[in-house]
Amino acid sequence: MPSSNRLLRVLVTPPKPGMLDFVNKAKWDAWKSIGNVSQDEAKQDYVNLISSLVAAEGPAQVVAKPTGSSAAFETLLVTTEDNITTIRLNRPTKKNAITVEMYNEIIKALELAGNDDSVITVLTGSGDFYCSGNDLNNFTKIPEGGIEKLARDSGELLRGFVKAFIDFPKPLIGVINGPAVGVSVTLLGLFEVVYATERATFHTPFSQLGQSPEGCSSYTFPKMMGAAKASEMLLFNKKLTATEACQRGLVTEVFPDSSFQTEVWTRLKAYAQLPRNSLALSKQLMRGVDKERLHAVNNQEVEQLVERWLSDECMNAIMSFFQAKARL
Ligand code: COA
Repeated sequence: MPSSNRLLRVLVTPPKPGMLDFVNKAKWDAWKSIGNVSQDEAKQDYVNLISSLVAAEGPAQVVAKPTGSSAAFETLLVTTEDNITTIRLNRPTKKNAITVEMYNEIIKALELAGNDDSVITVLTGSGDFYCSGNDLNNFTKIPEGGIEKLARDSGELLRGFVKAFIDFPKPLIGVINGPAVGVSVTLLGLFEVVYATERATFHTPFSQLGQSPEGCSSYTFPKMMGAAKASEMLLFNKKLTATEACQRGLVTEVFPDSSFQTEVWTRLKAYAQLPRNSLALSKQLMRGVDKERLHAVNNQEVEQLVERWLSDECMNAIMSFFQAKARL
């Protein structure tokens, strides 16, 4: 590192946090390891550090496939029963974090559900979480084209993923069985009905991660809850309880955890007896007005995120996540 950079780094590095302040310590270490270097050097440092941390973690854990799972999907359980197609995120040991493979499988499952004989489609999670959002390991598989290519490819994947929700032709129901984070929350603005257990929470920590909102939430959230309440979530990382999310219109109804599954599925089975075409056409009428705008919002959000993913703010935050993990 040139000596002027070294000097600058000494001048701007904040005081070292105490040993028990794990979060700030991880950030401090991340800052120290990047220092005040050029953007290219910082990116190379990021690649090196992420590679070493990921290597130290060992091979990814293989999730056992429960019996009865669909042969066609590795990360989802997809079933059709009683006129309901259920897409269940199935990486419970990773809190259903969405890997690249899972993004692609959800796109495929939605395409199949949109064309099958079911009346409604349900998205839910296995285990105690609904979903912990984007799997941060997606940022560690750096292809030959470097971080820029990774960001561009991730952007295209996200664009297609959100598009599959915007274009989904039938009523889409969220059965939120536990906490929800990131993109799994932002997408809820594109669902017809969202039922949540009282145990669920709703968290979009984008600025904490140096990122920006997706899933069309920059449009749907202010529309649904007003600009100030949307800003609390999308800018200032406010985590909502299920009841607060219901008051803000993000959730339709909250159920006690003990009766959640029974009450919700009884209701859904009744909905699924309604005439299929009438439901689909009514949904399309309600959503059609906004469709073009939603596609434009999706494109803008993706463009901005691709830039964010290449920023020092975002790379520091991701390194902090892995450094904190490595220390446990
Ligand atoms: N990306 C990658 N791995 C994730 C993940 C994510 N989004 N969410 C959970 N995991 C992994 C954890 O690293 C852990 O892996 P390990 O068993 O190999 O250590 C495992 O899933 C279980 O999670 P853990 O952190 O032990 O559970 P917890 O109940 O203490 O905390 C979360 C759960 C979701 C609050 C926490 O894992 C977290 O903050 N994850 C990151 C969420 C995030 O920032 N998502 C992106 C939003 S834009």
